[in-house]
Amino acid sequence: MLKDSFNREIQYLRLSVTDRCDFRCFYCLPRSHREFETPEEWLTSEEIERLIGQFASLGVKHVRLTGGEPLVRKELHDIANRIAALPGIEELSLSTNASRLAQYSDSLHEAGVRRLNISLDSLDEERFKQITGSKLQPVLQGIDAALASGFHPIKVNMVIMRGINDHEVEKMVEYCLDRGLTLRFIETMPVGEGGRSASEHYLPLSEIEARLRERYSLKPAAMRGSGPANYFQIDDSGLVIGFITPQSQHFCDTCNRVRLSVTGDLHLCLGQEDRLALRPMLRSGASDEEIRQAIRDAIARKPERHHFDEAPEAILRPMSALGG
Ligand code: GTP
Ligand code: 5AD
Ligand code: SF4
Repeated sequence: MLKDSFNREIQYLRLSVTDRCDFRCFYCLPRSHREFETPEEWLTSEEIERLIGQFASLGVKHVRLTGGEPLVRKELHDIANRIAALPGIEELSLSTNASRLAQYSDSLHEAGVRRLNISLDSLDEERFKQITGSKLQPVLQGIDAALASGFHPIKVNMVIMRGINDHEVEKMVEYCLDRGLTLRFIETMPVGEGGRSASEHYLPLSEIEARLRERYSLKPAAMRGSGPANYFQIDDSGLVIGFITPQSQHFCDTCNRVRLSVTGDLHLCLGQEDRLALRPMLRSGASDEEIRQAIRDAIARKPERHHFDEAPEAILRPMSALGG
């Protein structure tokens, strides 16, 4: 079992399989960003398998594949197959922008991915383009394909930004209601230059909740997942909506997760810079037990919480480097 010094049990590993993305959501990956990792620096499929095997033997049960955009990594299916087959891994999930999902959703399902989270900030083509730099239609087709492939639940992630997409909340609720998708609203986080540029649009989600309560009844609900969302059922519809409030009501005291970057850095907190470089150990012949001990030691110094309020300029890496 992996426990940190605040008695939090770590069972959830978010694995970034690439720091690249085919979108440029301004709050995540600014267009000016140039410093991408080069292929020699990426963990190979075999290295990922070995490392996740060690995490699993220490008690990690849920692995989420993230990016950048995970579907731009050519070996994604191989990576997914290897992780799904590891003893101790009970769940494999994926966070994606869905731009390439229409083509790959069946094969991802076959590879053992069961739960999908999909970013969708707007249903308006122009606005979608402003936010992401890309086209809306392939994303909507990707969502339809994911539904047809049998993923369940599928969660739509909407980063709420005042003056940009906050007027689309009710429209998005209807879109998700019609399709049986779980909808989650997310507060902007000041991670990297992009995240900070979104801060001027920050909107506490209590405002959205109050607005929705004027129209619907919201009853606390349970939902499968390992992340930080707080869920409610809308009327008796069966639609579940979630609120992810890293700024207005942080959830660090129940944190159960760490992150592994494409280059093999184990990041102990999304909102802090502390990390452990595991790739040099892998490439210099460290034993499994040495790797496990290094992981235990790193988890023991996992920070208590982020400091988005006190030090919003602290994180230089873009959000895309760790996929949220
Ligand atoms: P499930 O609950 O398993 O469905 O997944 P998830 O919510 O953990 O994953 P997803 O990739 O969809 O993340 C949703 C949002 O939550 C993103 O904006 C993440 O950055 C944010 N998030 C996830 N984990 C953390 C965390 O530990 N700290 C903070 N501050 N934000 C997080
Ligand atoms: N603030 C909040 N959420 C963000 N995401 C990316 N960057 C930010 C940010 N600065 C979200 C994406 C995706 C999820 C994995 O992280 O929209 O849905
Ligand atoms: Fe955990 Fe850090 Fe996220 Fe807080 S900000 S929930 S401590 S990873």
